[in-house]
Amino acid sequence: MSKQQEDRRAKYCIDHMTPPPVYLQQVERNTYLKTMAPQMLAGTLQGRFLSMISRLLRPKRVLEIGTFTGYSALCLAEGLRPDGTLHSIEINPELQAIILQHWHLSPYKAQMQLHIGDALDIIPTISGNFDLVFIDAAKELYAKYYDLLIDKIPSGGVILVDNILWDDKVLEDRPDRETQSIMAFNKKVLNDTRLEVVPLPIRDGISIIRVK
Ligand SMILES: C[S@@+](CC[C@H](N)C(=O)[O-])C[C@H]1O[C@@H](n2cnc3c(N)ncnc32)[C@H](O)[C@@H]1O
Repeated sequence: MSKQQEDRRAKYCIDHMTPPPVYLQQVERNTYLKTMAPQMLAGTLQGRFLSMISRLLRPKRVLEIGTFTGYSALCLAEGLRPDGTLHSIEINPELQAIILQHWHLSPYKAQMQLHIGDALDIIPTISGNFDLVFIDAAKELYAKYYDLLIDKIPSGGVILVDNILWDDKVLEDRPDRETQSIMAFNKKVLNDTRLEVVPLPIRDGISIIRVK
């Protein structure tokens, strides 16, 4: 499929999708105005997908790795139970102010907890039993995040993993190192008999992984 056809397909889906809350449109606009790499944000279609999965699961505890400006965390928070909590980890301390500013626009702000630091250090400090996890940080560390997380997710818990196609570079004959890490991660979860995995070609590829 050509890039043009792909763009038209995505536009058709967005045109036929329940729109995100108004504050998320503000968050997206502000991210484009204030950051150097706004394309890192999940975006409208993937954001609605995250929201839908969360609303279907009704999680009590959500963990996100890679907050950026807080957009995807806000989408995941939409499905939280009234007594639920979302934890999100971001390594860049310069993003703290904009994340909190964005979260304060939403009705979920009291249920959202930001952790500034390296997820490899912070994951072991947050107590487990996560019903829903979203991995969207350093691609070469996906397997390490997963190793730290897997025992904190009970049976029935779901892990969503972004960028598993990495701009289709996983299809190349001589992939670069970052791509090799993603390919190794995709194999690792496929070979883990504790899991069921469905990689979906939404945007840059997102895997839904269910703990049996
Ligand atoms: C693709 S962006 C996340 C986008 C965000 N999930 C969204 O959709 O709005 C990846 C983020 O992960 C952060 N990051 C990278 N390595 C990290 C690590 N080891 N621990 C925590 N955050 C990390 C980066 O600073 C960046 O803000």
